[in-house]
Amino acid sequence: MTRVTRAGLLWLGVAALTMSFGQNRPQPLIVLLVGPPGSGKGTQAERITAKYEIPSFSTGALLRAEVKAGTPLGQRVSQIMAKGELVPDEAVNDIVRRRIGEKDAEKGFILDGYPRTVSQAKFLDALLGGRFNVKPLVIHLDVPDDVVLERLTARGRADDKPEVIRDRLKVYHEETAPILEHYAKGDYHRIDGTKSIDEVAAAIDEVLSKQTK
Ligand code: AP5
Repeated sequence: MTRVTRAGLLWLGVAALTMSFGQNRPQPLIVLLVGPPGSGKGTQAERITAKYEIPSFSTGALLRAEVKAGTPLGQRVSQIMAKGELVPDEAVNDIVRRRIGEKDAEKGFILDGYPRTVSQAKFLDALLGGRFNVKPLVIHLDVPDDVVLERLTARGRADDKPEVIRDRLKVYHEETAPILEHYAKGDYHRIDGTKSIDEVAAAIDEVLSKQTK
């Protein structure tokens, strides 16, 4: 009888310890930055990386690196990107799958500019469910078209010509905006992206700091 009680107590102790370790293990922080071109996704991704020490992956930057290196993928997508159209889902999904599978993404990461279609969002849901078992935190940087045009014309990247910016905005409204509906019932936060860079960063920080407490 005494033996059974001792064994039982030992089991309870081990179970309690295991549970408390489980509770203390931080969940990976997975942030999706969604917004039109020029809404400040890249700018804010840098701020989040600096403060929360998680890497940021921009599909646009990863694709531009492929174009610059002249890889077969880069050659295939350079004209698509120059016109401001979307690169096919399969190619972008594959880049993201490989990148978030690397060691530095284990504690979490920011995705800047992905997903950009409902089909990409569904692919990501399956990927995150399988590997991280966590739902993403979605930050929607809301900026109207006229502000986008003004900001990007001033920046002057290769795809920042006014006619290409208009096409990128059209693609955003038609293909990307529907993903906001996809995430509306999840951990979704709309932020006014027309405020100053510091004010937008503070609004994002308010959301993230609650999640990481
Ligand atoms: P990508 O590189 O993702 O470009 P984008 O979405 O058009 O976004 P930008 O980089 O232009 O803007 P941003 O929101 O990051 O703003 P930023 O911080 O730079 O994609 C490029 C192309 O790649 C796409 O067109 C597509 O072809 C392809 N692609 C990428 N992802 C894909 C995907 N998932 N599926 C298919 N194809 C894909 O800021 C912009 C400017 O504004 C800067 O000058 C900045 O200083 C300024 N600024 C930022 N915040 C503020 C503020 N609050 N106030 C004033 N100025 C500000």
